[in-house]
Order: sequence, then C-alpha cells, then structure tokens
Amino acid sequence: MTEVDAAVAALRAGKLVAFPTETVYGLGADAGNDEAIASVFAVKGRPTDHPLIVHLATIEQLAQWSDPLPASAHKLAEAFSPGPITFLVPKAAHVSLAVTGGRRTVGLRIPAHPLTQAMLTAFGGGVAGPSANRFGRVSPTTAADVLLDLGDDVDVVLDGGPCEVGIESTIVDCTTSPVTVLRRGAITMEMIEVVLDEVPSDPSGPSRAPGMMASHYAPTCAVRLVDDWNEAESLRVALPGRSAILDPGPDLAAYAHGLYGWLRDADRRDLDTLIVVRPPNRGLGAAINERLAKAAAPRS
Ligand code: TXA
Ligand code: MG
Repeated sequence: MTEVDAAVAALRAGKLVAFPTETVYGLGADAGNDEAIASVFAVKGRPTDHPLIVHLATIEQLAQWSDPLPASAHKLAEAFSPGPITFLVPKAAHVSLAVTGGRRTVGLRIPAHPLTQAMLTAFGGGVAGPSANRFGRVSPTTAADVLLDLGDDVDVVLDGGPCEVGIESTIVDCTTSPVTVLRRGAITMEMIEVVLDEVPSDPSGPSRAPGMMASHYAPTCAVRLVDDWNEAESLRVALPGRSAILDPGPDLAAYAHGLYGWLRDADRRDLDTLIVVRPPNRGLGAAINERLAKAAAPRS
C-alpha cells in the first residue's frame, strides 16, 4: 500500500490525515463525515464555529460543493487553481453545517501539491481541514512541524517536503460584489484585480473571517516589527533579555517560504524577543505583513 492509499483508507474510515499543500500543511477529514469533522475541531482545540476549508481535486468539483457557483469564483479558479487561493461561495445543500461552522457559505480550495492531488483524486470527495497546528499556533510548513504540534493525534502524516509558498492561501469572499479579500496570500490583490477587472475590497477589522483574531500565528516569544536593519540594531541594544534580529532581505518569495520556520526557531532558541524587519507592503509583502502584525499583536 502506498502512503497515498493509506491516507485515502484513513479518510474513508473517518480518521485524520495531515496533508502537504503548496501553502502550509492541513489536518484533513472526510467533509461528508460529521464525526470525523468533530475530531478535527477536538484535536486542533478550535472553537466549532470557526469554519473549515473544503479541499477538492478539480475545478469541475467546485460546482458540486457550491450552489450557485459565483462567476467570480469560476474566473479566479480558471486563472489560479490548483493554487494558493480559497473561494468563499454559497454552500450546496449537502455541505454539512459542521464544516461551515453553521454558515451558509463554504470555503473551497484546490491545492497544487502532487501528493495531495493524488489523495484527493483517489478519495473523490471533499477533504475538510484547517492548518495542521494547535489553535493559535504558527501553521506548520514541514511534516516534522506537524508531528511536533499534533503528534499521535493524527492518524496519517503524508510527508510532501517543505511547503513551497509557506503562508496560508488567499481567501476571497466571492459572495460580495466586488469580491472581498479576507486573508491575503500569494495570489495578490493586484493579480485578482487583473483577472476580474475590478478592485477587490479589503476589509480591516470586524468583517474578517472568524479565526483571524489578533493572536493568531504567534510564536511564544515577543515579536517587534521594524522597517530596517538600523532600527533593528538600536532596538536590540535597548531591549532587556535575549533578542535576535530577523532580516530576510528583498526576496519576498523566500521571505514567505521561510517565515513560519523562523518563528518556530525563535521559540526553540528560547528568545525573549524576535525583532523582525518588515518587507515592503506590496504584493506578497502585504500578505507577509498581515501575518507579522498578528505575530506581534499583544497577547491576551
Ligand atoms: O492555505 C490554506 O488555506 C491552509 C491549507 C491547509 O489549505 N488552510 C488554512 O485553514 O489556513 P485554516 O482553517 O487554518 O484557515 C482558514 C480560515 C479560517 O480563519 C476560517 O475561519 C476561514 O478561513 N473560513 C473558512 N471557511 C469560511 C467561511 N465559510 N466563512 C468565513 N470564513 C471562513
Ligand atoms: Mg490556521
């Protein structure tokens, strides 16, 4: 039995499978099995009104999980799927409220990783799942990170190597006109604007997706954000305790790819403060800054 066969068998048996995607690792269960969905929430320690994304193999399947499928979602899928983008659409009748956290909309995504594509194709159904970390922690970008966070609570871990993009998918609410970008990602506002020929709206504050509260994506050490190396140095000298500077440089794809691993390392090194040099606030830089702002937010 291959590892993909083992993953499919586990899904059919109502068990949990950690799967690689191009963004971060997911913690998946059969979207048609409410008991399996309940165990995703239990293992993750996540409130049950925070909806899960349903992962599908093909663009054609979008119409089976949405009713109706908005034209904007279809256009964006033709342009960017499989890839790091999630569409919020009106849910089809069969989609369980356990998956959507009681909402009438469902998040649908077609991930690009070949192992997960093979799993989804063989499984045939939808795989519902959040990022494979405990609630409130940084998303895992390697199979080892998944095991450190979830250990024995996950039945199968498909190891697909380090995630290429490294930050979560762009979430686009396709039920509004213009569409609304609820979470930024590697599919940028600029890219969406070109495909739809309209400027997406960009809420900040209360209309954000549930589960995107300030303390998300946070390492346990304090995070301070600065604009350049000089500012970082002065701050490091002024701060008490153990601090280090993270300055990934101008390659934004490399910045996103490394970010969560570096945040996890900061905790392993037992730092009091990680001082992070922000990227410019454009394109993928804006998506990185959204995560950094959360990592730096005061803890409750
Ligand atoms: O890249 C990704 O999107 C990864 C990989 C595994 O696909 N998944 C991921 O899932 O980041 P999660 O659950 O950690 O984050 C999804 C976010 C949550 O904040 C959730 O509340 C929001 O999307 N969301 C999902 N469905 C929604 C819905 N129907 N309405 C509003 N927000 C929704
Ligand atoms: Mg998450």
